[in-house]
Amino acid sequence: MDNRETELLYQALCYEQGHPRRTQHVLKVYALAKLLGEREGRTPEERIILQAAAILHDIAIRHCKEQYDGDARPERQKQEAPALVRQFLEQAQYSPALFAPILDLVLHHHDYDAPRGPLLQLLMEADLIVNGYESSPSRESLSKMAEIFQTNTGKELFALCMRDRK
Ligand SMILES: [Fe+2]
Repeated sequence: MDNRETELLYQALCYEQGHPRRTQHVLKVYALAKLLGEREGRTPEERIILQAAAILHDIAIRHCKEQYDGDARPERQKQEAPALVRQFLEQAQYSPALFAPILDLVLHHHDYDAPRGPLLQLLMEADLIVNGYESSPSRESLSKMAEIFQTNTGKELFALCMRDRK
C-alpha cells in the first residue's frame, strides 16, 4: 500500500468518526478488493484505482444521512459522491488522471443490471461478500447475489462466507 492509499484510508476512517458499521464495512471491502485485484491479475494502476474506489465506495452515505434527514438512497449517493470523492482524492494527493475512473466505480457499484468492466465487477464482488455477511439476506436474495459473481476467487469466497447461511 503506497502512502497515498494509506492517507486515503486514514482520512476515510476519520471521516466516519468511529461509526462502527461503516468503519468495519470499508475495511472489509477494501481488503477483499485488494485480494481480488491481485488474484484476478489486474495491473498495478488498475489496482490503485480499484482500491481507492473500495475505500470511497460508500463515502456519500454519512453526508446524505445528515443532509437529507436520513435518506441515503443510491440516487442521493450518486448525486453527492462526485464532490466528496474529488475532495478525498485531492487531499490524499492522487493523480487527477485517476479521479474519473475511481469516481466511475464509486457511482456504479450498485448498478448490477448494466454492462460493466472488470474493475467494477471486482468492486461489486468485494462489496457483495461483505454485504452477504452483514445484512443476513434471505435464501432468495443470496442466490440472486450469487448470480452476480463472475470471478473464480469471488465465487469461491462468497460460497465459503455464506456456507452457514443457506
Ligand atoms: Fe458497500
